[in-house]
Amino acid sequence: MNKSVPVVKVLFVFCIALLVTAVSFFPGFADDPGMQNKVIFGPGDDKRGYESADYTTNTLDLQKRIGKEADLISFVRQPPLGLPPVPVPAENPVSTKKILLGRKLFFDRRLSINDTFSCGMCHIPEQGFTNNEIETAVGVEGRTGKRNTPTVYNVAYFNKLFHDGRESTLEQQVWSPFLARNEMANPSIGYVINKIKAIREYDGLFEEAFDGRGPTMETVGMALANYQRTLNSADSPFDRWYYGKEKGAVSEQAKRGFQLFTGKGGCSACHLVKEEYALFSDDRLHNTGLGYKESMRSGSGTTSVQLAPGIFTELENTVIQSVSRAKENDLGLYEVTENPNDRWKFRTPSLRNVALTAPYMHNGSIYTLRDVIDFYNRGGIPNEILSPLIRPLHLTDSEVEDLVAFLNSLTGGNVTTLVTDAFAAPVGDMGKDDPNWTHENKLEY
Ligand code: HEC
Ligand code: HEC
Repeated sequence: MNKSVPVVKVLFVFCIALLVTAVSFFPGFADDPGMQNKVIFGPGDDKRGYESADYTTNTLDLQKRIGKEADLISFVRQPPLGLPPVPVPAENPVSTKKILLGRKLFFDRRLSINDTFSCGMCHIPEQGFTNNEIETAVGVEGRTGKRNTPTVYNVAYFNKLFHDGRESTLEQQVWSPFLARNEMANPSIGYVINKIKAIREYDGLFEEAFDGRGPTMETVGMALANYQRTLNSADSPFDRWYYGKEKGAVSEQAKRGFQLFTGKGGCSACHLVKEEYALFSDDRLHNTGLGYKESMRSGSGTTSVQLAPGIFTELENTVIQSVSRAKENDLGLYEVTENPNDRWKFRTPSLRNVALTAPYMHNGSIYTLRDVIDFYNRGGIPNEILSPLIRPLHLTDSEVEDLVAFLNSLTGGNVTTLVTDAFAAPVGDMGKDDPNWTHENKLEY
């Protein structure tokens, strides 16, 4: 009994420190009184409902993940209604062996510095292949990133990857999360490859998938790209109505919403809709003002900090800042080009499956589709280099609702198939025969 007291104390102090840090990363809602009264999609950063015994997370525990393999390659060869042919690089054709190997890598927790963190733990299948519960990503050991995790649905169609568009192929993109200190934190490319070579489960898999080539920087990227290239999701109610000519596939409200999307709302200037297909993105970067707002945030005022379920205290923001790591500024495309005119430009995301991928925007600062549309309706956040396409829209309340109904009609018909397929993937966990790098340093450094 006596012994447990210090543990409880340490835990308590740790929790407070964690909460203070967390809150200081999300001043968005503390600043914006409107946000505090909104019902959000579920438990999240602000831990509303946390005091209740019914508090649940949306992440399924492993026992509840009942998987069923899907014919993934068919989603590349014949993408669902509403999508164009999937671009596949000549040097990395798709094959079932590569796809399954890529899927195995995607859910393998051992491929992080401390054997705990997989790609699938940020790109969570049952949460729209993103994370609905936090604004910005958290990687190994609770290290926070500055950006929201985008979904990997339909990621095959982008030529500009990441919110700042800095990467151009899925094959190369994977090395960013593998190596980022606040994601999977591997110290080097060779470290990841040596790990894969040492895990017996991978014996022969690369060689079979890549004509005798073992795990290399290239083949690891190619396998992961193969899996991600299958996650194409369309054939939504909207697609069945607009491209499939099924009159009753969406409500009249959603149809009005679509008229506003391409008309008065001006949304399709960036979220493109073509005659034969729609990606809902122009694959370009724009300044909507959100990044500007974040950069200009003032440090004064107070924030309500939850210490424990049901117990809150008001803290000066300056106090919070003094005990937490400074929030990194995010200048978007400027970080890639260093051109001042590129400040606060972020890539247009696709809006397919957008009902499943909250919270929204590069920093996860907007929680509901209604709030996103209110943001556009106000004309974004004015700044000297705001995109000329963003301006006050004068949409009425019911027009805003129509747009929300339209966005809600963009959930793909094969989402459940892709999620249950992901559940069928083995979760790579440390096995009895695996060398344990964290504790025994089997790589012999
Ligand atoms: C710690 C959470 C985390 C982990 C782990 C993680 N990601 Fe991500 N992922 C993110 C975030 C955050 C971004 C956006 C980063 C940015 O824009 O700078 C992202 C971006 C991406 C993108 C670009 C999507 C787009 O729309 O441009 C792809 C593809 C991707 N990740 C795949 C992967 C793969 C493959 C792995 C495993 C090797 C992985 N991710 C591991 C959080 C994570
Ligand atoms: C100037 C181009 C442009 C226009 C016009 C535009 N958007 Fe966007 N949209 C973007 C960009 C860029 C982002 C990402 C911003 C960020 O990450 O900070 C975005 C993000 C979004 C998101 C969040 C998606 C996510 O996954 O985070 C939604 C929803 C959205 N837009 C809907 C709309 C609607 C509805 C309209 C019309 C009222 C519209 N957009 C008009 C460029 C545009």
